[in-house]
Amino acid sequence: MMETERILLRPWRDEDAESLFKYASDPDVGPRAGWPPHKSVEESMEVIHTFFNNDRTWAIELKETREVIGCIGYYTFGESNINIGENDAEVGYWVAKPYWNQGICTEALRRLIDYCIHEKSFRTLWCDFFIDNPASGRVMEKCGFHDTGEVNCCSRLQVGNDRPVKIMRLDL
Ligand SMILES: CC(C)(COP(=O)(O)OP(=O)(O)OC[C@H]1O[C@@H](n2cnc3c(N)ncnc32)[C@H](O)[C@@H]1OP(=O)(O)O)[C@@H](O)C(=O)NCCC(=O)NCCS
Repeated sequence: MMETERILLRPWRDEDAESLFKYASDPDVGPRAGWPPHKSVEESMEVIHTFFNNDRTWAIELKETREVIGCIGYYTFGESNINIGENDAEVGYWVAKPYWNQGICTEALRRLIDYCIHEKSFRTLWCDFFIDNPASGRVMEKCGFHDTGEVNCCSRLQVGNDRPVKIMRLDL
């Protein structure tokens, strides 16, 4: 588990399925990150059991309310949409819409970068975002990522794999 001023990054639990559905069913969230909105609490539970059930994915829990309001994690070599190196990782995240533009994602990503530096031996972190989703690029910039100038089409995304993404990197 990781902690910052306002949030905890901790493993997902079955009890989070309701909150996950509440926020991940929002059509303004998933499609911007390449996945379709959740359609039921059961689907959200399934996502917790499959995609989130690993040591590379954390629920973002707001300490004040103890509610889960987002997700952050990374992919390693072979799992990433980007052509990353063996010692690299690709980070990804989303935050529930009612909490946008309060610095939550930046706080979570900074903590994850710290973890990657101190607990892992990654050389470079990568991240990409749809060019029409500048808020995500801004989070990366605030955390020290640089635009590689490369544009990619993410053929492995469930949603938007025909739309271009910008690739950003942070050398640790
Ligand atoms: C992208 C996302 C995670 C950002 O979360 P957040 O907690 O709101 O992020 P922060 O508050 O830390 O930072 C957001 C920054 O984007 C800026 N921003 C917001 N909308 C913007 C826009 N349309 N254009 C440019 N910048 C924008 C904010 O002003 C803020 O920057 P600032 O601190 O310099 O003012 C959230 O919007 C989200 O979950 N979106 C849907 C899913 C998604 O896009 N995931 C990422 C896929 S790559």
